[in-house]
Amino acid sequence: MKKFLIAGNWKMNKTSAEAAEFAEALKAKELPNAKDVCVLAPFTLIGGLGKAFEGTGIGFGAQNVHFEPSGAFTGEISVPMLKDLGVGYCIVGHSERREYFAETDKTVNLKLKALLQAGITPILCVGESLEIREQGGEQTFVAGQVIADFDGIGTEDAAKVVIAYEPIWAIGTGKTATPDQAEEMCAFIRGVISGIYDDATGDSMLILYGGSMKPSNAKELLEKPDINGGLIGGASLKADDLAAIAEAAASL
Ligand code: 13P
Repeated sequence: MKKFLIAGNWKMNKTSAEAAEFAEALKAKELPNAKDVCVLAPFTLIGGLGKAFEGTGIGFGAQNVHFEPSGAFTGEISVPMLKDLGVGYCIVGHSERREYFAETDKTVNLKLKALLQAGITPILCVGESLEIREQGGEQTFVAGQVIADFDGIGTEDAAKVVIAYEPIWAIGTGKTATPDQAEEMCAFIRGVISGIYDDATGDSMLILYGGSMKPSNAKELLEKPDINGGLIGGASLKADDLAAIAEAAASL
């Protein structure tokens, strides 16, 4: 049976009251696959979400982390601080961080290593811009990101990483990649991982699609053999929508 992860990326949204309301609404859905669902929240909301989701199986985590364990890095949050809150997941290398906050494959690589060492599951984001796709360079670009991001990571650790393919042109634009486009790249990424490591690692890796996924298009994307779930932005802000996507995964 195919494994799934339905991950909501709230980005810079919600106050604590709004998060509490969301958590109650999501819990009320009593999702059959709650353990395959997680919410990646702003740092200020993680502690509260952890408490609200206690005993439900629903995962929670962060959207970024610093790679050093402590020190003079004003404004940053470390892996031990996330561990302290009991987080299970952390997004690394989201295209918004690569674009607006100077995230590079080098820092992504260091963050992956720090999270893996602490036993937190990284959700590594990769994906090309519209310009690169129009030039036909998307596979070369994404393979380059994957190879650089996994540099020096051993097979056992690599197998614990979740990859999210998020074409930048589909994020927040309402323009979803077609199921065939998403499947093609997710299968390609699986092949890159098999090439770096081995077939068992490639075959078992969770590879998600992200970019304007919503209840109306989730099933046709999730049905594809190489798509193990979604990293969902806008639609994850409503408990009803995130639950509907999770239910679509549960039905497959
Ligand atoms: P949207 O679902 O809002 O397009 O965002 C996707 C995303 O960037 C998730 O990380």
